[in-house]
Amino acid sequence: MTQIETQLLGTDGVSIAAAVKALALGKLVSFPTETVYGLGADATNGSAVAAIYQSKGRPSFNPLIIHLADASAVDQHCIMSDTAQRLADTFWPGALTLVLPLKSSANVSSLVTAGLKTVAVRVPDHPVANAILTAFGGPVAAPSANPSGRISPTTAQHVINGLDGRVDVVVDGGACAVGVESTIVDCSVDAPSLLRAGGIPAEAIETCLGFELAPAPMSNTPIAPGQLTSHYAPQGALRLNANQSEPHETTLGFGDVDAALNLSRAGDLTEAAANLFSMLHQLDAMGAKHIAVTTIPDHGLGKAINDRLRRAAAPRD
Ligand code: TXA
Ligand code: MG
Repeated sequence: MTQIETQLLGTDGVSIAAAVKALALGKLVSFPTETVYGLGADATNGSAVAAIYQSKGRPSFNPLIIHLADASAVDQHCIMSDTAQRLADTFWPGALTLVLPLKSSANVSSLVTAGLKTVAVRVPDHPVANAILTAFGGPVAAPSANPSGRISPTTAQHVINGLDGRVDVVVDGGACAVGVESTIVDCSVDAPSLLRAGGIPAEAIETCLGFELAPAPMSNTPIAPGQLTSHYAPQGALRLNANQSEPHETTLGFGDVDAALNLSRAGDLTEAAANLFSMLHQLDAMGAKHIAVTTIPDHGLGKAINDRLRRAAAPRD
């Protein structure tokens, strides 16, 4: 990807305002949280979220956590059960992420949720994260700010070492106190389960709930990015690298082609990534049974798009 000039900022008011402005412009801002440094983007802006994947060189689309300034904003985006509310009251702000049902009115890019009907949310416990989120006023999607496959950063220098030239702004708020990622609990199902061990011990969560967390559905299998079985796949059958479509097929295009839907007429992979999940949903809504997908270049974000399309095209039970 093209190199950008990475700006290293402090935590004074002017710096925070500059970081917030960058987020609003769709840029990537790395900021400290109590767990690890996040690579943040405006969660409502699909192109900005696509840039996260590009920056990390992530070969597939894994759903991302949205970060909010305070728990009262959660209602705008997701449905809180009594259990979720109890966990939020006890552990937020803090190193706990809750997976919750997405409200239909939620304004979150489908690239954040990887097309799922749930979204992962947390309210970080860090004065700098909190200042940025409060001033920004909307959800910020943020995975750990490291290149894909590398260890998570706990200082601004780690972020620079891994992502210099691939992130617009790094806000240096010192070392992260917790140093491991947040604990993730799935509260979108009747029996809440532990999806990832992290900064808050499972025992503390179980003590708060008064019952044990269910094991993760795939706890014996390492969940590599994008391997979640729950990833969204459309109803229709996909045929990839289909540069000529058959009469019975609906075309999902890329580039300057005739198509029912086009991921990016300009052939821009960032735009295509931002459109991917919403267009797969639209194909369902259109009742498309046979979908022909134009060849997508297999570099940069194209790799993640192709990975997702191959999964969606794979035979299903
Ligand atoms: O501490 C943290 O959680 C850090 C800081 C920056 O907040 N963030 C972080 O994000 O670790 P990330 O993207 O590296 O991890 C997000 C995890 C992934 O394993 C993903 O599969 C899971 O959250 N996840 C996100 N949305 C989900 C959903 N709707 N259902 C199930 N799992 C989800
Ligand atoms: Mg990570």
